[in-house]
Amino acid sequence: MTTEAEDRISELTALIRHHDQRYHAEDAPEIPDADYDQLKRELVELEAAHPELVRPDSPTQTVGANPSTLFEPVEHRVPMMSLDNAFDRAELNAWADRAQRRLAASDFGNLVCELKFDGLAVSLRYENGRLVQAATRGNGRVGEDITANILTIESIPHRLPEGAPEILETRGEVYMPLAAFDALNAQQEAEGKPRYANPRNTAAGSLRQKDPSITATRGLSMWCYSVGELQGGPGLATHSATLEFLASLGLPVNPETTTADSVDAAWQFVDQCEAKRHNLPYEIDGAVIKIDSLDLQQELGSTSRAPRWAVAYKLPPEEKTTRLLDIHVSIGGKGKATPFAVLEPVFVGGSTVAMATLHNEDQVREKDVRPGDTVVVRKAGDVIPEVVGSILADRPPDRPEWEFPSVCPCPHLEPLVREEGDAAHYCVYPRCPEQLRGWIEHFAARNALDIEHLGEQRVRLFIDLGFITDVGDIYALPYDRIRELEGFGELSVANLAAAIEASKHQTLAPLLVGLNIRHLGDTTSELLADAFGHLDRIMEASVEELAEVDGIGPIMAESVYEFFQSKVNREIVEKLRAAGLNFAQGTGGDAAAEALPQTLEGMTIVVTGGLEGYTRDGVGAAIKARGGKSPGSVSSKTTALVVGENPGASKLEKAETLEVPILDEAQFQRLVETGELP
Ligand code: IVH
Repeated sequence: MTTEAEDRISELTALIRHHDQRYHAEDAPEIPDADYDQLKRELVELEAAHPELVRPDSPTQTVGANPSTLFEPVEHRVPMMSLDNAFDRAELNAWADRAQRRLAASDFGNLVCELKFDGLAVSLRYENGRLVQAATRGNGRVGEDITANILTIESIPHRLPEGAPEILETRGEVYMPLAAFDALNAQQEAEGKPRYANPRNTAAGSLRQKDPSITATRGLSMWCYSVGELQGGPGLATHSATLEFLASLGLPVNPETTTADSVDAAWQFVDQCEAKRHNLPYEIDGAVIKIDSLDLQQELGSTSRAPRWAVAYKLPPEEKTTRLLDIHVSIGGKGKATPFAVLEPVFVGGSTVAMATLHNEDQVREKDVRPGDTVVVRKAGDVIPEVVGSILADRPPDRPEWEFPSVCPCPHLEPLVREEGDAAHYCVYPRCPEQLRGWIEHFAARNALDIEHLGEQRVRLFIDLGFITDVGDIYALPYDRIRELEGFGELSVANLAAAIEASKHQTLAPLLVGLNIRHLGDTTSELLADAFGHLDRIMEASVEELAEVDGIGPIMAESVYEFFQSKVNREIVEKLRAAGLNFAQGTGGDAAAEALPQTLEGMTIVVTGGLEGYTRDGVGAAIKARGGKSPGSVSSKTTALVVGENPGASKLEKAETLEVPILDEAQFQRLVETGELP
């Protein structure tokens, strides 16, 4: 059926794009590579069966034939080290003094001054002049094989000229030139896609592409700055000679490099970097100063992390001024009201900043920032934009101080409350739509009810259409109306309904997480669920009883108690009960869970590897539902270790050392049924 295929193709295309974005741009994949490959395979098969539905922009059309699944590990024969940092002149002097004290010679001679490129360290291995392997730094000892992707970078030669050494392993930084980054973002914008955050992360994402033809379009480049291994090459006495040698082989070596005959001269180079940084066609985050003599480098050696013969001067985070247009307040899932700065967009620290959190009322007051002010913005830790403060000289004397709004930005205009001793304001109106959106997203999140197919946009839409007024309504969605909405095919509605149905079988701990009770997190929800076993018992518990649970403090106990005192919250709980959600910590429904024979009472059973009859969470729940405990590690208190597919070696070893009985799945099943160890 064409419509069904069409729906699935749209869905797969969206999913693959989403994961591409997470993987490539943010370098933060959400799913294992194998699952990603499965999505791709399904799309390829569907398109093969329905060629008329292949869109020109389909991910299958922009991707090569055989994307590799995983990058192979590469062991670095010479470890790829990091660098120690100096943040000011005194620290640079201290580094030079330390190095000098360690050396027998009276003077360490010349220093080489290089830029510190903001990219990713990569090693290139040439054998008899041919590029045979390229790898990321990884943890310094083992990186990933990215040869196929590196081969697409124009400035990296595949072959070195005649007379090249037998083995040359050179290292350097792969980066994305600013022009390539801007062009990529212009293209993203033209296609209505989100912009990439900064050149460094985008370079990282581009290098970790499964499909080299994508890397090829990203305009990456490289600067080589050292040699890891050299056989059959010329005798090199200095680092500067090494760089010249690399350049003579046609490898890209940065032209800004200079030598300095004193720490003073090196400092001048460092000093100029700050001014230089904006005139370069690529990003730098500092300078690197290296002792030139290779003999002296050898004499100085390295710590476990970094060489003693080099130091990185890190430029302070870049600061820019811009106008603070306004201060708005956003409402989080628990009703927390966070003020944030709305800024005239400004390019700082490698990306455009238009908003920055101001955390809370006290922070705004301390920074004394007022709408209309010219403010200094910087990227703290190079990622999170921060408003440093206002330029007071630019402020007219009559500009009023910003007042924290007294009401929530939602149309109900309910008050925002700041309790004594708390820095944050909260909207305490349980039906606030802003808060509701946060709550629904939180409820559907992986660590809570784990409802797939209920993403941010759908949540917004369902709230706007009045389908959802609290989390209980998720279980009474009007599917016949949803089916008629744009973007919802038969299949996607069925998928959504199935995901919502499946969430009813979650255990108590994720349900507690989903209820979004202030101060209660994943671990504390688990503690409460284990201690009380059923939501009704938690609802009936007094503050004292709640606080008796190990790990639950008085503030949390109070907060849980308060939550269930609210009539609105109780109504929501009843809606969830009526919808058939599991309120017990065991799986399989309340009555069933409570009636289960407590065969594992007093036992501590650790599970390693996958079992056929259970999901990973399900097996723990099954043990707990029968009165047992199921911690994550083996100790002398462990009653038995259950071993499934692909077990963890350390748990097995520990169980053997401590002589803990080891059970297979069948033996475990018998134990569950009879309570007797084999
Ligand atoms: S030399 C053993 N030189 O900075 C010393 N590193 O913060 C190896 N980096 O992992 C590094 N520009 O990725 C060196 N001119 C340069 C550099 C540079 C950037 C990176 C490199 C290193 C990191 C340490």
